Amino acid sequence: MLATIMFVLAYLFGSISSAILVSRLFKLPDPRNSGSNNPGATNVYRLGGAFPACLVLVFDILKGTIPVWGAYFLEVEPLELGLVAVAACLGHMYPLFFSFKGGKAVATAFGSLLPIGLSLAGLLVCTWLVIVAITRYSSLAALVAVSLAPLYTWLIKPLYTLPVTFITLLIIFRHRTNIIRLFSGEEPKVGAKKAPTD
Ligand code: G3P
Repeated sequence: MLATIMFVLAYLFGSISSAILVSRLFKLPDPRNSGSNNPGATNVYRLGGAFPACLVLVFDILKGTIPVWGAYFLEVEPLELGLVAVAACLGHMYPLFFSFKGGKAVATAFGSLLPIGLSLAGLLVCTWLVIVAITRYSSLAALVAVSLAPLYTWLIKPLYTLPVTFITLLIIFRHRTNIIRLFSGEEPKVGAKKAPTD
């Protein structure tokens, strides 16, 4: 029962789209209809610069961290804890409060892993940073990091491998238009002015 309540709360919390709210606050274009059409920190960075993007990034990370941390302190079982993380990511991807049109949940997934294992989260950040530094593609960095996440989890926190693998598959699915653009050479690099739409 407790775990079910935590799934619902995590989904509802994940459904708060910070990219849309921050964009409204800063009078930026709606990230659902501008840039890459993705309500996430990368697109807010394109549309409004570093400060609003940082706010979105921090809030989206907390959307994963807070429910998983809460469930952890309430002594929810490890597999169920992983499912709380899945629920937070699903809220971000398919938000109840924003017509089920959400983002790709990279930051929320990362945030949900912080209470599960700092070394795991650190390894994922390092992977993302290395790939983005080499290629300048935020999406490719996210895809490489999330693809390695099940392996890292299996090595560091094996109990969570199944939910992390599920989150990986969801995130890859949400990046399908980015994958097409990466193959066609149309994916914008970090700092590029113009972004093709999803
Ligand atoms: O985390 C989202 C990023 O991987 C891609 O964002 O706006 O380029 O589709 P975007």
